[in-house]
Amino acid sequence: MAPKQNLRVVIVGGSIAGLTLSHCLARHNIDFVLLEAREEIAPQEGASISIFPTACLSLEQLGVLDDILEQVEPLKPLYNWDSNGKLLAYTEVPAISQKRHGYPGAFLARQSILEILYKHLGDRQGAVLTGKKVIGVEHFDTHVAVHCADGSSFDGDLVVGADGVRSIVRQLMWSHMDSRGLQAEAREERDRMTCEYDCVFGISSPTPGLTTPDIHRTYARGWSTIVVAGKDKAYWFLFTKLDRKYKGHEIPRFNHDEIDKHLAPYMNIPVTNTVPFFEVYNRREVCNWLALEEVLYKNWCIDRFVIIGDAAHKMAPNSGHGGNTAVETSVSLSNSIASMLEKHPEIHTKDINDSLKNWQEARNPRVTQIWQTAAEVVRLETTTSFKHRIIQHFLPILIALVQNKGSAYAVAAERIDCLPLPPRSFTGTMPYNCQENLGQVIQEKFWKRVLWGLPLFGLMCIGACTVGTTILNIRPHAEALLEHGFWTASTGEIFSIHKRIYKLRALDDIFQPVIMCFLPSITGTDSQSWTQMFSFIPEFGAVYAIWLLEGYRKVNSWPAVLFPIIMGQGAQLLSVAAFGPLYYFLQYLQLSLYETAPSNNREIDPTGTYTLLAALAAAHYIPSYASFLVPDLQDRQLWNAAWQIFPLTVPLLQLPLSLFLGSKLNPDATSVAARAENRKSSLVAIRVAYCSLAMISASGFVYARANAPVGSSMLDIFWPGVRGYALPGDASFEEGIARFMQYDQVSSMAAGFAWLGLRLRELRRSGVEFSWLGVVGVLVGITCVFGPGTAFLLGWGLKEELLHKLGA
Ligand SMILES: Cc1cc2nc3c(=O)[nH]c(=O)nc-3n(C[C@H](O)[C@H](O)[C@H](O)COP(=O)(O)OP(=O)(O)OC[C@H]3O[C@@H](n4cnc5c(N)ncnc54)[C@H](O)[C@@H]3O)c2cc1C
Ligand SMILES: *[C@@H]1O[C@H](CO)[C@@H](O)[C@H](O)[C@H]1NC(C)=O
Repeated sequence: MAPKQNLRVVIVGGSIAGLTLSHCLARHNIDFVLLEAREEIAPQEGASISIFPTACLSLEQLGVLDDILEQVEPLKPLYNWDSNGKLLAYTEVPAISQKRHGYPGAFLARQSILEILYKHLGDRQGAVLTGKKVIGVEHFDTHVAVHCADGSSFDGDLVVGADGVRSIVRQLMWSHMDSRGLQAEAREERDRMTCEYDCVFGISSPTPGLTTPDIHRTYARGWSTIVVAGKDKAYWFLFTKLDRKYKGHEIPRFNHDEIDKHLAPYMNIPVTNTVPFFEVYNRREVCNWLALEEVLYKNWCIDRFVIIGDAAHKMAPNSGHGGNTAVETSVSLSNSIASMLEKHPEIHTKDINDSLKNWQEARNPRVTQIWQTAAEVVRLETTTSFKHRIIQHFLPILIALVQNKGSAYAVAAERIDCLPLPPRSFTGTMPYNCQENLGQVIQEKFWKRVLWGLPLFGLMCIGACTVGTTILNIRPHAEALLEHGFWTASTGEIFSIHKRIYKLRALDDIFQPVIMCFLPSITGTDSQSWTQMFSFIPEFGAVYAIWLLEGYRKVNSWPAVLFPIIMGQGAQLLSVAAFGPLYYFLQYLQLSLYETAPSNNREIDPTGTYTLLAALAAAHYIPSYASFLVPDLQDRQLWNAAWQIFPLTVPLLQLPLSLFLGSKLNPDATSVAARAENRKSSLVAIRVAYCSLAMISASGFVYARANAPVGSSMLDIFWPGVRGYALPGDASFEEGIARFMQYDQVSSMAAGFAWLGLRLRELRRSGVEFSWLGVVGVLVGITCVFGPGTAFLLGWGLKEELLHKLGA
């Protein structure tokens, strides 16, 4: 086929980014020439590289993945050690990745991957020229002329700098920016690069004590190591923290001859519990010492200049994403150039400028997130701060969370538009989301999400203050009652507060005062409070079920489920007024729509949903309604005690049930139809959940209102008053408790609606249509007639329905 429209790209740099771009352009049928300074395309420099599912997809599209995988053994166990060789965490990150995405984590010498990329260029190898060190670029209105040190020069429509962290093209682009009156921006860019770490890395012959295919990481203060026991080689890295943070031109360069001296203090550090560093180092075949620059530039293109790969986004290598991200950026650039050609039959500088600015804007948020994770990982492994020391104790949880983020990225990997998707990308439990158009999902910066979440944080503060003050007000009464040991209902019946209901000392001690606080409402002594609580308690259970369901989404792995459980029991024991908003605040920050949107992430296993409903009925609804309705008042106290621990008993009951029933989702849904089936069964269960929970909440509310004391208004029953929490000095225990419970309900429900609002906003910004006025109007109406719980559940249902529409 003839190249399209004579557009020609001059690529500078023939490493991961440059060679991937060559492949992609060739497939898009776009002309290119690649200029590489070195004489060889694939020199051995001791560098190694991990390939993740994000890059596997496009590498397989290009037909090079099989050769790459042939060079590696799929990695399985990952051991994390502390500086004394004590195990911090054992995980199976690579194996999980294989199961989820169909692609294993691969690790190989960088030399090998470059060789493979080059080999597969086939007849386009002729466009790859070595020994061409680029020294200058002339920018004209109609084209660029790229000049090499050997005197040759090459014309093209645009020049792409894939020339690594010390990119010459980037410098020339800044000079061009200067000449276009963008001196300030260019100056900022020149100052952006920093360096706080260095790394000695190398490849050694097999070392006794290291078994393939293990990965070992050691976390210490000021240094860290990674050792990968690959096929007949050991790949290793030793990171150390520099004495300070260096900027731009001050960044040190290291002398190869001084490596031994630099490493002397580290010879005995443990790279595993049994292998000291020198064992690996003494078997080195090749090694190198580099400063680790970190930078994410703001401008990746202007006019006919473009930069990609490390030249544009150089990240800390610990998370192993640098090369993978370089692959993705090349892929996305080639797609953008191809679609620009389709739109513009004749290309002017302005068209390139505009199209590529759009490309950068779309690509940047994804790179930013990956870049930030990389920066965090190196700081965590070298224990940079007190925060990191704490986090290391939660390493298994943290690793699971980081992997979930990684999975969210993998399912939305960049793909080459003009090539079919490889069958393997459909395998796994979280296959690539090809049929979903999730391109429009907005990725919001974390700090913006924090700002948007602040109202929830504010509600938490208000909730904590109001219930806190109320508690202080009623404390003297409560203490008197606890000392006295008895509470008397309006019927004259006497309740023993210190009854040992659970027969477990710790549990009884914790819950006796809590149960005491429910006596006025459940016995009907305070009939207004009975009405409020009768509607609130079932509603709280349903809200908790939603928290659990959010935790069961496939994007979460098991540690994430502990979060709603802890928040739920915290709310139950201390106050829903504070823990409710806190849960919503953290949940909002933890997962953005970008991560939940792909259907493989958002699905909830129907088994989880149905068993949750069953467990909720048994451990929450039955005891809570019984505690309000059974005729014997003493029994109500017992039922209340049974209900108090539902945030724990619900998941505990559910666990064996769901293990027994097994997953209802087809894990090998490789066809589009099978995956649509999975999506549907997840949604059907969700519908059953929100409809049935809403129905129960609505009937509870209607029943409570019908049995409310004559003459009391909705406001009397539910509203704690705007005059604040100043209870009259002579307020009784019962009055105080009633007020407390009202705050609990108002604050937690307000936060719930605010959270729904934030979630709906995300969806709307990502292109899902609905009318704010309509949604708010309907929810207010439902709240008035069927109570806030019903409105919240239906609102959540709406959110799920809209989420389901996204990308479908
Ligand atoms: C210690 C270490 C470990 C790493 N581990 C991993 C990992 O496990 N996984 C991973 O994904 N990434 C890893 N990376 C990052 C990865 O190596 C880089 O992100 C990747 O190589 C970037 O590719 P690139 O093509 O952008 O740049 P480079 O690989 O730096 O290539 C730039 C190319 O441009 C050429 N060039 C430079 N100047 C000129 C010029 N003037 N004219 C012509 N040609 C020129 C160079 O010769 C070179 O070939 C690691 C990096 C380091 C330092
Ligand atoms: C390209 O965009 C930049 C702003 O990013 C602008 O300053 C410049 O004039 C544009 N070039 C052309 C040819 O439009």
